[in-house]
Amino acid sequence: MPELKRLEAGHAPAVLDFELANRAWFAASVSDRGDDYFDRFTDRYDALLAEQEAGVCAFYVLLAEEDGSVLGRFNLVDLVDGTAQLGYRVAQHATGRGVATEAVRRLCALAATRHGLHTLRAAASHGNAASARVLAKAGFVPAGPADPAHLGGKQGTWYRRDLTLPGSPSIPANRRLWNRISGAYQHEHDPQIGAAPRLWGMYSLPDAQLHALGDVTGKRVLELGCGAGQWSRALAAEGARVVGLDLSEAQLAAAARAMGTARYPLVQGAAEQLPFAAGSFDVVFCDFGGLSWAPPHLAVPQAARVLVRGGRLVFNVASPWFEACYDEAAARVTRTLRQDYFGLDTVAEDDGASSYQLTYGGWVKVLRGAGLVIDDLIEPRPGPTAPNGYNETDPPDWAHRWPAELLWVTHKL
Ligand SMILES: C[S@@+](CC[C@H](N)C(=O)[O-])C[C@H]1O[C@@H](n2cnc3c(N)ncnc32)[C@H](O)[C@@H]1O
Repeated sequence: MPELKRLEAGHAPAVLDFELANRAWFAASVSDRGDDYFDRFTDRYDALLAEQEAGVCAFYVLLAEEDGSVLGRFNLVDLVDGTAQLGYRVAQHATGRGVATEAVRRLCALAATRHGLHTLRAAASHGNAASARVLAKAGFVPAGPADPAHLGGKQGTWYRRDLTLPGSPSIPANRRLWNRISGAYQHEHDPQIGAAPRLWGMYSLPDAQLHALGDVTGKRVLELGCGAGQWSRALAAEGARVVGLDLSEAQLAAAARAMGTARYPLVQGAAEQLPFAAGSFDVVFCDFGGLSWAPPHLAVPQAARVLVRGGRLVFNVASPWFEACYDEAAARVTRTLRQDYFGLDTVAEDDGASSYQLTYGGWVKVLRGAGLVIDDLIEPRPGPTAPNGYNETDPPDWAHRWPAELLWVTHKL
């Protein structure tokens, strides 16, 4: 399948080839770019990248799998107040195969998840029936006449599509599960996970030892799936401007009760549908929170969207080793591979709830796909006698010998 990639400096030669090879074809349906465009292509291209950098536009190229040539250009322009205008052009040789429809659908999903948009508009001239068909198949509906000024002097129609963030079917079941177990969970685990500030994971290893989160004083920090706020409360006390988000009202009530003198806001929401504007946080993090309990292909782009450029996403999940060696019947982690590594994906929890697991390659793909740079993959290693507060393991020093957790440290490009 061709890849829809964010426009980069390195795509310039392929974009120029695409524009030159299809110039006459494009001129038949939209106004020609003119010789000046080609004479000053480098300047124009740099200006586009600068606009993209400023956040007012987002440009994408559809690249052929075989040779990386450009099959089409798909652009979101004038990103304002959650809306943008969609424009696209596809190479003549790639038309008639559903390429444009598929790419427009994918761009609509990215517009919602990566760019936080709720409405897209697109104009097509009356003579461009193919474009009207693509828009209709991608869910756009006619929204009124388009000014010829928008269509190179031609009459046409505006189309509109309202975007909704994809939810995941596990949201209601996960919320019910955590509401039901919150009391018992806090009774059993709070003495360990709340014993000291900044403890990571099943073995409560201090951040001072793992060097994952670092100093967050004065930073805007979002904890995804904060539970009773053992982490958030500690960071608020250090002077971070923390927001704790969780799906479960029972968990949020526990966080409210446990809040210290450094107050911080609690928000009910799902990691896959974050109710925050783009660029709202300097740090997003969780410890077996929203990135274990929401589908990563939805939750990671959301986390990336709400981060500022350069902001950090740091999170801890179970390792595929740990999951693959889990013996359901014995309810413990063993030395034997029990589940397929490639089949982990959705892990059935009690009451129809789900948690999620990716392969190492799956995590790299999802993180990079959301525009995040991987700075480190920490594999926390507890001592041989460190207790696991959550799962029995056989042998007891399992996590001293094999990696039980993955602690990802990333930042947004
Ligand atoms: C294992 S706890 C992690 C919280 C804390 N770090 C701890 O160790 O207790 C998982 C938390 O994720 C929350 N959660 C489950 N699904 C979620 C979702 N889709 N979005 C945000 N939070 C979710 C649960 O309500 C729960 O509080």
